[in-house]
Amino acid sequence: MDRRPFIAANWKMYKTIGEAEAFIMDLLPRIKDVKDRDIMIAPPFTALQAVANAVKGIEQCFAAGQNMHFEQNGAFTGEISPVMLRDIGVDYVILGHSERRHIFGEDDAFINKKVLSALSHDLAPVLCVGERLEDREAGMTEEVLRQQLTKGLNGIAVEGNSDLIKKIIIAYEPVWAIGTGKTATPEMAEDAHSFIRKLIEEIFNSTIAENILILYGGSVKSSNITGLMKEEDIDGVLVGGASLDVEHFERIIKF
Ligand code: 13P
Repeated sequence: MDRRPFIAANWKMYKTIGEAEAFIMDLLPRIKDVKDRDIMIAPPFTALQAVANAVKGIEQCFAAGQNMHFEQNGAFTGEISPVMLRDIGVDYVILGHSERRHIFGEDDAFINKKVLSALSHDLAPVLCVGERLEDREAGMTEEVLRQQLTKGLNGIAVEGNSDLIKKIIIAYEPVWAIGTGKTATPEMAEDAHSFIRKLIEEIFNSTIAENILILYGGSVKSSNITGLMKEEDIDGVLVGGASLDVEHFERIIKF
């Protein structure tokens, strides 16, 4: 098992191009000696090219889209395609974020098309899953995760595709923990992560399950990352609010 820690920032709808560039220029010298983990930054689309250019050639640093359409091009006003992301040097794309699911109504079948499209365009999908508070209170957490993963990863045959499947990252983000300051305890997160790893084994196989990265997201801060990262099945984090401040994000990266 060789899972490198993966620290990801999701800036959501924050930062202009100038703010994004200033952040990266400030961050890079701070993390120049950090070689044993990967760092991903997902700015808004307008700042994505600037961030992709700024991290180009830095081995452990990657730019990501926060979303994309599954088609290569077409009459889809307001959308960005996988070809466009590749065109500006983007390697990763967040898909199925809970804000996409619950504010913009994306469902598992729609997200699945995006996952398949990302893979076919050599983009690594960061597929987000996670239960709402009412799901957890109704004892439905595992059922929700099962649905989101089996449907979201539908149609990817293992045979002949293991290199592609290796690109997939899962982010477990319980909806009740996002932006609320309520982090799942390390034990709660670990329960969900180990369940997700078992599901990945069912969907693909044990080798893929052992190697796939599963990130935790939801009110991650420098004060709680260490406890989370001690858990066996937590391989990294997807950070919203606390990734907007360079000093705080540096502390998270260097947990
Ligand atoms: P917060 O870290 O602000 O809770 O957001 C988490 C998230 O949604 C990352 O994708």
